[in-house]
Amino acid sequence: MHHFDYRDGRLHCEDVDLAKLADAVGTPCYVYSTATLQRHARVIASAFEGQDCLIAYSVKANSNLAVLATLAAEGCGADVVSSGEMQRALRAGIPASKIVFSGVGKTAREMELGLREGIHQFNVESAAELRLLSYVANGIGLEAPIAIRVNPDVAAGGHPNISTGKKGDKFGVPWTEAEELYAEAATLPGIRVVGVDVHIGSQIGDLVPMRAAFEKVVGLAQRLRAAGHDIARIDVGGGLGIPYKQGDEPPPPSAYAAMIAEVSAGLGVQVILEPGRVIAGNAGVMLTTALYEKTAPDRSFLIVDAGMNDLMRPALYGAHHDIQPLKQAAPDAPEKTYDVVGPICESTDKFASGRDMPAVEPGERLAFMSAGAYGAVLSSSYNTRPLVPEVLVNGDRFDIVRRRPDLEEMLQLEQVPDWLKRTD
Ligand code: LLP
Repeated sequence: MHHFDYRDGRLHCEDVDLAKLADAVGTPCYVYSTATLQRHARVIASAFEGQDCLIAYSVKANSNLAVLATLAAEGCGADVVSSGEMQRALRAGIPASKIVFSGVGKTAREMELGLREGIHQFNVESAAELRLLSYVANGIGLEAPIAIRVNPDVAAGGHPNISTGKKGDKFGVPWTEAEELYAEAATLPGIRVVGVDVHIGSQIGDLVPMRAAFEKVVGLAQRLRAAGHDIARIDVGGGLGIPYKQGDEPPPPSAYAAMIAEVSAGLGVQVILEPGRVIAGNAGVMLTTALYEKTAPDRSFLIVDAGMNDLMRPALYGAHHDIQPLKQAAPDAPEKTYDVVGPICESTDKFASGRDMPAVEPGERLAFMSAGAYGAVLSSSYNTRPLVPEVLVNGDRFDIVRRRPDLEEMLQLEQVPDWLKRTD
């Protein structure tokens, strides 16, 4: 459910006419809906009502401060993978006591920052990381609450580039080594074992692999308790899929919550969730303007002003994003088949191949739907294109929550060394 609909033939985000917004801000730009973010956070919270649960929004999906502040106001915590993300979350008003720190490559400096802030939990991904965390925590007289991220060796079934829970993936501690590492953790100074962590992938459209992974983790938690560890939390990661096109029917949060309640029944743990896409994905679109149509013997290219640097998902994962005109096409409007491409000098700069859609005129504005998660965060300034701006809508208001940098600002970060400066 989201708040992007046609009203009188014009695509709106809540009460804002997106064509007017595009006139004011320029394209390409991302637009997020406050009501949709709130709705998604509330749907998850109410699905887990009655369970001891922390919703630690996965900041990597969309880390804009305004998005984080919106979710902070909903009571969300944060799942972060860098001290930068942690600082964003704190600045947006998410308390340290609701922040979990994940990721395979935490540095000593990041560990220290997290420890000094007093975050809820470190999700540890290797023996070497555990030992370094112990060293760092002990060195500053603090204790790190930890869960070990285990790799349950379960295939999530999503795109292979975003599957993380199979043997051989770089994520988590191999299943067969987990208990041994917990035993070591119990002996290390500065380490306090509090739970178990798992995350098997993203855009998962089926509860079966999730259930398989969680059942394994609950079994592990029971064995760890029997071995004397104080397992008070299970972090189940993120990964719930969202509909990207008509006919997609990912499991609803209510079914996901019921499955978790069933699998963890009687365990008496805090369940930590790290949802990213399911909160932000359908809460955002990217607006673009059609520049040209170029006809080749076997196809028509629709060249738009957004590129793969602005929205990487199609190039990286072959991901599908629906494309809707801001001005609704008449029911009898002629259809055309396009390859929708951007201006970047790469063959992968392609948003859609052979896409049937109402014929588009140059200058017409379009929206890439479901672009709120892993959209702006993955953008770059490749081809010296300014980073794409972001806009937050709330009812009939909107605000530019990250502005488009100008060329001077971009170039200010660079300098030509003295020996290359011309003196004549
Ligand atoms: N927790 C951990 C440890 C993660 O690695 C991730 C995502 C999440 C939570 C959030 O997962 P979600 O609920 O959003 O599925 N760029 C890719 C997705 C990469 C996901 C990375 N990890 C895409 O655009 O599809």
